[in-house]
Parts: sequence; structure tokens; C-alpha cells
Amino acid sequence: MRMVFIPNCTKMCAKRSGAASLTILSSKIKPALLRACRMNKAHRSTQQMTYFDQVSEATAFLRAILSPFTPRIGIVLGSGLGAVADAVTEPVVMPYSQIPHFPQSTVVGHSGRIVAGLLGGVPVVVMQGRVHFYEGYLPQQVTFPMRVLGALGLQAVILTNAAGGIQEGYRVGQLVALSDHINFMGWNPLIGPNEPRFAVRPGAGLRFPAFGLRFPEMTEAYSKRLRALAQEAAKEEDFALAEGVYLAVSGPSYETPAEIRAFRALGASLVGMSTVPETIVARHMGIEVLGLSCVTNLAAGLGATPLSQQEVIEIGHQVEHRLTRLLQRLMPKIDALIATPETGVKQP
Ligand code: HPA
Repeated sequence: MRMVFIPNCTKMCAKRSGAASLTILSSKIKPALLRACRMNKAHRSTQQMTYFDQVSEATAFLRAILSPFTPRIGIVLGSGLGAVADAVTEPVVMPYSQIPHFPQSTVVGHSGRIVAGLLGGVPVVVMQGRVHFYEGYLPQQVTFPMRVLGALGLQAVILTNAAGGIQEGYRVGQLVALSDHINFMGWNPLIGPNEPRFAVRPGAGLRFPAFGLRFPEMTEAYSKRLRALAQEAAKEEDFALAEGVYLAVSGPSYETPAEIRAFRALGASLVGMSTVPETIVARHMGIEVLGLSCVTNLAAGLGATPLSQQEVIEIGHQVEHRLTRLLQRLMPKIDALIATPETGVKQP
């Protein structure tokens, strides 16, 4: 990987492709990078700023780096699934540690960087790794990156994760599109004052609260039309994409067999420790969500062996290639679709 270091700046831009395109890219983004670097140096300490201001600063920083590249689709890569970002061409890589106010991943299997570029020929922002509640982050920190993606103007996100399979018939290594979720984390990222400032939002008029409404609608948390496209892409790739309900727990301990029996009785097909806070915030901001789980293990009490994080990561790595092919096929389909306004989901 080639790295471009910008003088007098702690930021760096990494470019994987050849020297020719490196020159083109760096000449395009260098002024923007330098501007962003100055902004980052000048940024005030987190304690002095409101959450809204922190989101705005991180957004302005990333916008300056990405300009004139304007992605409309975001992808969050879960445990063991980070290599999907290797398929991004013309990549600009930015570690979370370099972005103002961005929380840092502390877990194995989460690189902690943004990779922006083309996937299946479509501009995307890929988050290689996420932060979780169990790492000790507050709900608003967990969902900070999603706020920034929303403020950047993204219209659709694909949230991937590793999950334990609860539904009978699920196999380890299987991909499942989420049809709904059950929030069993014991908290909601929207608790607290709703941001009173307004923003211009495409299709929502001028006076739409900058972050979203006080009581956002969640009937179709996971977009039916994005799911239909994922099914189409899976068929073209010659594999079956199951659908299921994801139940989110806080972790970090895995569940007991009794909890899994209870979750199954509640209607859960999968269990995991992420995704739901991001989905809630994405829907709050009017972003369409496609959720994709990789069944890395059968949930507690359903498999022959005890659960381990090592197994979760290993199985994730085995599925990365199939997930990459699916996403490469899916991106042009989603890109064409989001030009059309979403139907059936009304924000009063
Ligand atoms: N439970 C919770 N989270 C998980 C699991 C699980 O079985 N597998 C992967 N993430």
C-alpha cells in the first residue's frame, strides 16, 4: 500500500493503486487535505463542544478530504469482515484516530479506518470496523460515525455484523438479510434531548430537525426495497440469502442457553452486540438501511462447541469473499434505486 504523507500534518492518505492514479488523486485532494489538516489542528477539545458541533466538525473534515467525491452509500464492516474494503478501488484511507472526535475501535477484527472509493464502480464510504457499547462507549459515541455519515448526505447504509444463529436450519457461514430487529440492549441512542437545530434534507423540506424527529418511525427499519435488491444480487451470485430478525444485546459476555431459548420464543433469528443503535440513528436521519448478518456460530446451547471470539473472526474471514462479491453486485443496483425517493416510510 502506498501512503501519501502531507507535510506538517498528522493526516495521511493511503492509496493502493499505481503511481499514475496516485498522482492524479493526490493533486485533486491535496488542497482539501491541507485545509482539513488545518481544521483538525484547530479543533477545540471535545469537552468544550456540543455533540452537534463535534459531528459538524468531523463531517467538515471528511468532506474536505473526500471532495469532490460525493458518495451516497455507506458500508459498515463487522467482526472478521473487514477485508471487504480491499475490493474498494481508488481508495482514500483515513484512520478513525485522525478524524476529529471519532471513537476508536478497541476490539480485534475491527481495523478502525474509513476507506472511501469505488465498489462495483459506485462511490462508497466503507467503515472498516465499529465501536460497541461493551467497549465502554456511551450510546452517542457508539453512533457518532453514523451521525457523520448522515451529515455527509449518505442516503443508504449497509450494516454488516457477525451474529449467533438462533433460527432452526441456519448454518455457520450463512449470510442473512435482516427483516427487523429487537432492541434488547437496555438503551436507545436517541435518549436525551433531541437536537433542536434544523437542516436542509433532500425530500424532507427545509425545516427538518438536523438529526431527525423526536419520535422516529421504525415500522420499516430495514428497507424492503434494498432487501429485494440484495436477494436479486444473491441469486445472481448463486446462493440463497435467508432473512431473519436480529436481537441486539449489550454483551460482552455471550448469552446463556436459557437466554437463547427466551430470545427464540420472542421471535429472534439471530443474536449480536451491534447494528441496532446504528440502525436507529440511521432511520432517525432518514437513511435507508440494509442489514446483513454473517452467522459465525450457532447461538449458545445450540452448537456442539463453546462460543469463542476466535471462531467468530475465523468464520467471518471465510465469508468475506462471498460478501464482497454480493456487495460489488449490489452497489450499482442500490445506486440506481436511491435516485428514486423511498415510498411507504413517512416522516410527518
Ligand atoms: N452472541 C452475541 N454476539 C455474537 C455472537 C453470539 O452468539 N456471535 C457473533 N456475535
